[in-house]
Amino acid sequence: MSIETLLHESRVFYPRNSFSSQSNVSTQTLYEQAHQDRLSFWESQAKKLLWHQPWNQVLDWKRPYATWFEGGKLNASENCLDVHLATKANQTAFIWEGENGEVRTYSYQALYEKVNTLAFQLRHRFGVQKGDRVTLYMPLIPELAIAVLACARIGAIHSVVFGGFSSASLKDRILDSQSSLLMTADGGYRRGKIIPLKEMVDVALSDPDTPIKTVLVVRHTGETIAWVEGRDVAYSQVMEEPHFMKPESMDSEDPLFILYTSGTTGKPKGIVHTTGGYLTHAKYSTKVVFDLKDEDIYWCTADIGWITGHTYVIYGPLSNGSTVMMYEGSPDYPDFDRFWGIVARHKVSILYTAPTAIRSFMKWGRDYPDKHDLSSLRLLGTVGEPINPEAWVWYYEVIGQSRCPIVDTWWQTETGGIMITTLPGLHAMKPGRAGLPLPGIEAKVLDERGNEITSGGGLLSLTQPWPSMLRGIWGDSDRFESVYWSQFETYFAGDGATVDEDGYVMVLGRVDDVLNVAGHRIGTMEVESALVGHEGVAEAAVVGMPDLVKGQAILAFVTLTEGVSASEILSKELIAHVSQEIGAIAKPQKIIFTPELPKTRSGKIMRRLLKNLAEGKAAGDTTTLSNPGIMDDLALKMQATC
Ligand code: PRX
Repeated sequence: MSIETLLHESRVFYPRNSFSSQSNVSTQTLYEQAHQDRLSFWESQAKKLLWHQPWNQVLDWKRPYATWFEGGKLNASENCLDVHLATKANQTAFIWEGENGEVRTYSYQALYEKVNTLAFQLRHRFGVQKGDRVTLYMPLIPELAIAVLACARIGAIHSVVFGGFSSASLKDRILDSQSSLLMTADGGYRRGKIIPLKEMVDVALSDPDTPIKTVLVVRHTGETIAWVEGRDVAYSQVMEEPHFMKPESMDSEDPLFILYTSGTTGKPKGIVHTTGGYLTHAKYSTKVVFDLKDEDIYWCTADIGWITGHTYVIYGPLSNGSTVMMYEGSPDYPDFDRFWGIVARHKVSILYTAPTAIRSFMKWGRDYPDKHDLSSLRLLGTVGEPINPEAWVWYYEVIGQSRCPIVDTWWQTETGGIMITTLPGLHAMKPGRAGLPLPGIEAKVLDERGNEITSGGGLLSLTQPWPSMLRGIWGDSDRFESVYWSQFETYFAGDGATVDEDGYVMVLGRVDDVLNVAGHRIGTMEVESALVGHEGVAEAAVVGMPDLVKGQAILAFVTLTEGVSASEILSKELIAHVSQEIGAIAKPQKIIFTPELPKTRSGKIMRRLLKNLAEGKAAGDTTTLSNPGIMDDLALKMQATC
């Protein structure tokens, strides 16, 4: 495989002195400390948390299994709440804005009280024990954060399933994690419409094998919903009376949560994160990357259903005692300036969002941000996918008004927190290049044999264990070892990257069969399995095609079963079918019907050739195909539909 340097972008931007001089990191000291003694560097970061019992050893590394802070005991919820009560009880922890304009705020004291009450009820009324799994399928409302922290308080392992996933996806995740309790809401708002979450839950739980005994339901939209007596319980009823719940003393290596993410097979992976190391990195990285101060109003726009929401809406900012903005809905509702109204209304100072959102803002035009006072902003961030320099510069000039540094942060569900970025008060910024490994993190770009590449392209690897690394895939250690640890001696991230003369890493995107659609990871196999699950489909091959806003869109090549004919109606039906099977985020943009797929003589589908077509390139070498003529056919079909 050859990975070319795709961009020749030479612009460099520097943080202003006024920013650097006040920033949390303005010297190389952290890099030097970490370089001199990585483990004692991490130890000093871990000491910033409250521990019930100190650890015996910083790291025990038996590749690929890491034990960080072995013997140490702590509680994540206590580190996000109780530790702030002496000094910040009245400080706002969350400002939440609903899509319909409702605003709610929670002080640290108020959040602490809610979390305690729910934690108490989970334990004493519903019998949730330490280590039990709890699935959360919720809209982006404060109760989701309360539930996450309540689970952490009693040592239950939370598994948040993004509210955009279908009931089939929810069911799979519940079965895989064997959760005993599910918390949901009647519905959520998205672009003025109601997403009927409880209805989806009822479908997911109709499976006779479901392990769920209790469904806690938050009333949010007020719609009429079905109610299963003996199983469904109203959240409001449970929360009537305040209670205190002592935080469970957790081993550093006790799991904190499972979060499912797409891989190269049809089955999503339950990524497991543990307590001490994860929280150490969440707290540290939030502080240094976002230059977090007590006065900041910090807004990470991600849904809590993704890792970004776990680490940078909840655990990172709350463990630092900061004020977190949360917005329930869509950026274009009721108009294209919703985000900028929120920034102005709530005086947001730090904004962390995704390139796909930035590209949408660009498309909608600068009149929308220009209508609002964005002078409260002092720092911007991006995450989730490569950002093209045009979008970067637009973000910098139009939103940041050439005043705010941008941190382009590379990381993954598996890494738990930010791995590669510039530090905002310290480094020059290069549009399109994420930057350098954070102090304490070691990353290299390797060739296929695992040798380091110092210029040009290769495969990104994290070359030393780090505290917030995944500890495995829930119930599947073989897959953990083969996906991440069989390519190299060190952790293989699945991304292609280049590195420049200053060591700045540019992440080019996935090198495996995983797509990145609007910043969301979707496995091509998942979509293919959904398609072939339709009775009219014999075979399907799914590839990514470039999309100006979403980064990638899904293109599906489909062969129909005997007697079924291609039609516009069937195409729509298949798209709806995928949406129903996985969720709207996985919907193919386009379906191309074909009598056969390009295959090698041994019968393997040549996705690479289809990918070339989708990217508007020549098909490439078709000599190994058993049916080379099909590529011309498909090229014509592509032209006709584009
Ligand atoms: O391909 C990389 C891309 O997103 C993948 C991780 O996706 P997920 O686990 O869903 O987590 C997203 C949020 C952390 C990576 O393998 N990615 C993430 N951040 C960047 C990126 N690609 C380029 N630049 C980034 N800053």
